[in-house]
Amino acid sequence: MVERQLPNVRELATLMQFKKPQLNAKKRRLDKALTIGDLRAIAKRRTPKAAFDYTDGSAEGEISLSRARQAFEDVEFHPGILKPAVDVDTSVEILGGPSALPFGIAPTGFTRLMQTEGEVAGASAAAAAGIPFTLSTLGTTSIEGVKAANPNGRNWFQLYVMRDREISYGLARRAADAGFDTLMFTVDTPIAGARLRDKRNGFSIPPQLTLNTIINAIPRPWWWIDFLTTPPLEFASLSSTGGTVGDLLDAAMDPTISYDDLATIRSMWPGKIIIKGVQNVEDSKRLIDLGVDGIVLSNHGGRQLDRAPVPFWLLPDVVREVGKDATVMVDTGIMNGADIVASIALGAKFTLIGRAYLYGLMAGGREGVDKTIEILSTQLVRTMRLLGVSSLEELNPSHVTQLARLQPVHRAATQAADASPARPSASRSRSTASPKTATAKVAPAKKAPAAKK
Ligand SMILES: Cc1cc2nc3c(=O)[nH]c(=O)nc-3n(C[C@H](O)[C@H](O)[C@H](O)COP(=O)(O)O)c2cc1C
Repeated sequence: MVERQLPNVRELATLMQFKKPQLNAKKRRLDKALTIGDLRAIAKRRTPKAAFDYTDGSAEGEISLSRARQAFEDVEFHPGILKPAVDVDTSVEILGGPSALPFGIAPTGFTRLMQTEGEVAGASAAAAAGIPFTLSTLGTTSIEGVKAANPNGRNWFQLYVMRDREISYGLARRAADAGFDTLMFTVDTPIAGARLRDKRNGFSIPPQLTLNTIINAIPRPWWWIDFLTTPPLEFASLSSTGGTVGDLLDAAMDPTISYDDLATIRSMWPGKIIIKGVQNVEDSKRLIDLGVDGIVLSNHGGRQLDRAPVPFWLLPDVVREVGKDATVMVDTGIMNGADIVASIALGAKFTLIGRAYLYGLMAGGREGVDKTIEILSTQLVRTMRLLGVSSLEELNPSHVTQLARLQPVHRAATQAADASPARPSASRSRSTASPKTATAKVAPAKKAPAAKK
C-alpha cells in the first residue's frame, strides 16, 4: 500500500517554474527551432509561395537534391570509446585564412527576395561567427555593401562568366579592390536547369502581383510590408529584362566558357581561385594540376542537372586522386552539423551551406541566420564529442561508413547481365568500411566483376 499525505504547498511551489513569457515574437519563433528543418517550416509559413519555392526547389524531378540529402542520412558513424573530447576545436585554416567553423555561406542569387535583409544578414552573421561569406554575381547587395556588412571578416566573390566578359571581369576587379580574398568560379551553369516550381508559380523578376500572389500574401503580411517599404528588389550588379531567374541566366551567361576562361581569370585575380560545380574525378585532377587553389564538389544544390552525381559520394575517389593536401570542398544537401562532420571525415577541407542559410534568413533575417549557424555548430560539436574527437584533423574515413542505398550498377556488369541480374560495383562502393544495404544491414554488397577499361 502506498502511504498518502496531503499535498505540501511549499513543495508544489518549487515545482512551478513558469518561465517569463518571451515578448519578442521573432525570438520566440526562433527559440523553438531545434533543427534546420524547423527553420524551414517557419520560413515556409512566413514567405510567399513563389519566393519560398524559388529557394526550396531544384531542377526537374528534384532527384539530385533528394539523393544528396539521402546520402547524408545514410551515413553511419563509428565512435571511439573512452576518448574524452571535452574541448572541441572546430576551427580550420582554409584558402590561406582562418574560419571558426568548417563551413561557409554559399553564394545565392536574388537573396533579398527571401527576406529583405538578404546578403547583409548573411555577411554580418558570417562576420559574427568568424566564417567566410560568398556573394553571388546575381546578388541583391553590392560588393561594397557586403564589405560594409563584413568589414573585417572574409568575403568571397562568386563569378559567373557572362556573354559580355567585361561585366564579369569588371565585377571581379571591384571585388578584389574591396578586399574579397577568394574568387569562386561557378562552372556548372552553361544553361539554366529547369526549375519547374518557378514556371508553375509564374515566378518572375521583379515579382508580379497576380490574383494568386495577392491571396497568398494575406497570411504573410510582413514579407509584403518589407517588400513595399525597403529599397527595390533588384540585382545589384546586373539589369534584368524580366522573366524567371532561369530566363535571366540563359540570357546573361555564356554557354561557351572553357578552360581558356580559367586562364584569363587566373591572370587577372590576385587572390585565391576555386572552381565550384566540379562533378567527377577527372575534372578534379585536371583543375588541381592546373594550379587552382581549390575545388567545390557541388551540383548546385540540385538546381542544374537533375540526377547529377551526389557530391558527398564523390569525395573519397576525388581525394584519393588529387591527394589529401589539395583543397577539396563539398556542398549540396547539408542540413545538419553531422553532415559536415561526415564530409570532413571523408576528406573535405571545408563545406558550404546554401538553403540552410536561406531558411534561417526567411525565418528571422539576421537573427535567423545566426540561428542556422548556431544549430549547425551545436550539432557539429555534439557529433564530434560523441565520436570521441577533439579536432577536425582527427576525423578520418574510419569514422564513417556510407550505407549503400543506391549503388551504381557497374557498366560491364550491365552488359553481361543478359542472364543474371546486375550487381552493384565494389570498385565504386562508397566507403572505406564495408558498405551495407540500407534495407538489410546485415548483408554486405557483393563484389562485382573487375572493371574493363
Ligand atoms: C536560392 C539559391 C540561389 C543560388 N544561387 C547561386 C548563384 O547565384 N551562384 C552559385 O554559384 N550558386 C548558387 N546556388 C547554389 C549554392 O551556391 C549551393 O551550391 C547550394 O545551395 C548548395 O546546396 P544546399 O542548398 O543543399 O546547401 C544557389 C542556391 C540556391 C538555393
